[in-house]
Amino acid sequence: MKGVVLAGGLGSRLYPLTAVTNKHLLPVYNRPMIHFPIQMLVNAGITDIMIVTGGNSAGDFLKLLGNGHAFGLKHLNYTYQEGEGGIAEALSLAEHFAAGEPVCCVLGDNIIEGNILRAVRDYREKGAGAKIFLKKVPDPQRFGVPVFDRQKLLRIEEKPAVPKSEYAVTGIYIYDPDVFDIIRGLEPSERSELEISDVTNAYIARDAISWEELEGWWSDAGTFKSLLRASRLVAETGANKLELSDDLQVGASV
Ligand code: G1P
Repeated sequence: MKGVVLAGGLGSRLYPLTAVTNKHLLPVYNRPMIHFPIQMLVNAGITDIMIVTGGNSAGDFLKLLGNGHAFGLKHLNYTYQEGEGGIAEALSLAEHFAAGEPVCCVLGDNIIEGNILRAVRDYREKGAGAKIFLKKVPDPQRFGVPVFDRQKLLRIEEKPAVPKSEYAVTGIYIYDPDVFDIIRGLEPSERSELEISDVTNAYIARDAISWEELEGWWSDAGTFKSLLRASRLVAETGANKLELSDDLQVGASV
């Protein structure tokens, strides 16, 4: 499985912090934001990773991350998103890199307390379709929101005014290689972007989806409030904690 970290965009909700730099280079407590999703992938045993960036300061990612030595990696891959075509368009740039393998795609402003290792292993064993990670939140209208009929996932609604559940779809997605054909078939949304929720909805329509609730805290960091919250949570409890597992050799807490 390949890992893809999406770190483009203008970060307009954090302006003027993002006037001259990229959102994902901003500090979350004691680290640049992008360290957290990279560590999340490495802790899950995913070491073949591509960073998709764009917008301001794209070149600074190379300077900051280099070949990924800080994460025990020998190499990192980079690609550049021209323009603001949305999250799904950013993911489509990783098609060549994925080379027919499934991808674990993480939004570069998503930070978790725990580890997705078990879910990644589970996907690898049963492996096809999509897997998404949900978390109960007090403000689901800010996110993609799952709509259920009992336990059955019916669809994802992107930032609904009236959320139909208490859950957010977190920015951590596992997709099989069909994802790139699915993205090619998408129509831009009202905000002229290819939406990641539409990708997930295509898998729901095919009945090829599984989901689980993330353990531990989860935060995005794309608004002033959530950036502050993420920093507090990292400072108080730490992020990306490793599971106590005998066969887990890679990664370390950040
Ligand atoms: C994106 C997705 C949304 C998801 C969220 C998670 O929203 O569109 O479905 O719930 O990330 O962080 P954004 O925060 O980029 O607007």
